[in-house]
Amino acid sequence: MDKYVVWYIRLSLFFFVLANILGIGMVVAPEWKVYYKATHVHFNLLGWMSMMIYGVGYHILPKFSGRYIYSVAIQNIQFWFSSLGLLGMGVGWSMIGKDLAPETGQTVLLISAIATLVGVAMFAFNIGMTVAEAKKVPPIKPAS
Ligand code: HEM
Ligand code: HEM
Repeated sequence: MDKYVVWYIRLSLFFFVLANILGIGMVVAPEWKVYYKATHVHFNLLGWMSMMIYGVGYHILPKFSGRYIYSVAIQNIQFWFSSLGLLGMGVGWSMIGKDLAPETGQTVLLISAIATLVGVAMFAFNIGMTVAEAKKVPPIKPAS
C-alpha cells in the first residue's frame, strides 16, 4: 500500500479516537460543548469519515478504474493540507470557544478552513481526472 494511503488511514483513526474522547468529555462535562462541539463534529466528519474516504478512495478507485491515480504528487500534497487544515480548525474553534485570543482563533480557523477546502478540491480534481481517464478505456468484454 502507498505510504501516504497508510497515513490517511492512520490519521483518520487518530481523529476518530480524539473526536470520541471529546464526545465523552461533553457527556461528562456539558459545559465543554461550547469549546469542543464543532471540533468533535468536524474531527468525526472531516477527520474520521473524509480522511478514511481519501485513503481508501486513493487506494481503490484507480484500481477499480484499471488506471493509476492521476497525480501521486497531488495525493501526497493534499495529505498536508487536509491534516494540518483540520488540526488548525480544531485549535481555532477551541481558542474561540474558550475566549482565548478569539481574534487570533478566528484567523487560525479561517486559514485552516481554506487549507481544508484546498485539500477537498485537490481530492475532487485528482479522483475526477482518474475516473475521467478511465472512461476512455473500453470495457472488457465478458468471456464467451
Ligand atoms: C463515543 C462516541 C460519541 C459521543 C460520546 C458523542 C457525544 C456527543 C455530544 C455530547 C454531542 C453534543 C450534543 C448536544 O448538542 O447536546 C455530540 C454532537 C454531535 N456528534 Fe457526537 N458523540 C460520539 C460520536 C460521534 C460520531 C462517531 C459522530 C459522527 C460520525 C458524531 C457526530 C456528532 C454530530 C454531527 C454532532 C452535532 C449534533 C447537533 O448539533 O445536533 N458523534 N456528540
Ligand atoms: C472547510 C470545511 C468546513 C468548514 C470551514 C466548516 C465550518 C463549519 C462551521 C463554522 C460550523 C458552525 C459551528 C458552530 O456552531 O460554531 C459548522 C457546523 C457544522 N458542520 Fe461544518 N464545516 C466544514 C465542513 C463540513 C463537512 C465536510 C461536514 C460533513 C461531512 C460538516 C458538518 C457540519 C455539521 C453537522 C455542523 C453542525 C454542528 C452543530 O450542530 O454544532 N462540515 N461547520
